[in-house]
Amino acid sequence: MKHLNLLNKAFLNFNQAAIKLKDSYEKLQAKVGELNLELEEKNRCLQASLKENEDIKNYLKSILESLPCGVIALDAEKNVLTFNRKAQSIIGIPAEEMKGSFCAILTSRLGIPVRDVESFLNAKTISNFEARIKKDYSTAYISLNITALENSKNDRNSVVVIQDITRLKRLEIQAQRNSKLIAIGKMAAKMAHEIRNPLGSIEIFASVLRKELSGESKKMADYICSAVKNLNHIVCNYLFFSRFPKARLKKMDIHKCLDDTINSIWFVKRDVKITKKYQASKHFINGDHELLKQASFNIILNSIQAIKTNGIITIETHNHFNEETWIEIKFIDNGEGISENDIDKIFDPFFTTKEKGTGLGLSIVHNIIDSHQGTIQVESTKGQGTAFSIMLPVFEE
Ligand SMILES: Nc1ncnc2c1ncn2[C@@H]1O[C@H](COP(=O)(O)OP(=O)(O)OP(=O)(O)O)[C@@H](O)[C@H]1O
Ligand SMILES: [Mg+2]
Repeated sequence: MKHLNLLNKAFLNFNQAAIKLKDSYEKLQAKVGELNLELEEKNRCLQASLKENEDIKNYLKSILESLPCGVIALDAEKNVLTFNRKAQSIIGIPAEEMKGSFCAILTSRLGIPVRDVESFLNAKTISNFEARIKKDYSTAYISLNITALENSKNDRNSVVVIQDITRLKRLEIQAQRNSKLIAIGKMAAKMAHEIRNPLGSIEIFASVLRKELSGESKKMADYICSAVKNLNHIVCNYLFFSRFPKARLKKMDIHKCLDDTINSIWFVKRDVKITKKYQASKHFINGDHELLKQASFNIILNSIQAIKTNGIITIETHNHFNEETWIEIKFIDNGEGISENDIDKIFDPFFTTKEKGTGLGLSIVHNIIDSHQGTIQVESTKGQGTAFSIMLPVFEE
């Protein structure tokens, strides 16, 4: 009996414990359910904030990509952190090479002197820096601005803004040359007029004397006549230069114009090989066929005259797509090249290094290109060769 009572008590206790356990279990279950809901909510919030972050990142990226200038972010050691496509296209380096030291990119890849790059990158305030770089097949001018970024972590990052100022630079050089040529042209016209009249009288008197004189005196009169002829030739050249013909512009094919020039130059072409590399897909311009033929003729003729042996002249065309579309025409020769001393003078009228040159060829080319709203630039290395680059706006329908 005693055992039965004990068993009964134990059973009662067990029953009470089981009820308590069940109760606790239900409470636990309710708590887990509550926690689960809370967790789900937290997860939802986290995901929303992750998406928001991703959206902001994409938004900032699309702002960066839509900027008309190049942007490169640098860390404290001036290594590239990020950049936009425009930055890469302005400096002409493939995306996979836009990493590591920015100083190395500017010096070894773009050929900018180390001293200039270091003082630009280490400047304390905003510093503006212009540089000439070799890009693909031509020379470009870029402007770089660096600004230190201020943030809460104080980690001295900076941002570099890059702009392509090639067109601006070329126009600047062209305008300087233009004002010089206009001044010389005015002076040339005035001088030619002043000289022409007395020269006419001298010629008449000398030819009258020539008829009336004999022996040594006749020889002297002959000499006066031929000197007057020479002078007259020079004066005519001055007048030709000052009365530059007006360009008659209409839609024309620059490739056809170059072909016509090459075909017409056969009579002076000695052992020179002319190679064509026409790569421009947009090659129609608003131009004067005859004047542009004359310009390319003058340039090719100069190349032929500068070549001693095994001459190669390469004529290339490329398109450049900036705010406007341009066609670049390059004439590259492997002739004797131009000395550093002479290179700034070659577009001046009457500058020549040739015994029988008038020195007008390139100043006429400059005028022709200028009347087409274009620019012309030269690069040369003495003993290696010369390259003339002409940029013209293409014809827009
Ligand atoms: N491709 C070239 N290679 C080397 N030197 C050149 C080249 N083109 C021009 N030059 C230099 O520029 C000078 C001026 O050229 P420009 O065509 O104006 O006159 P020129 O050739 O001397 O005379 P002209 O054209 O009237 O016969 C030349 O005398 C020459 O020294
Ligand atoms: Mg010439």
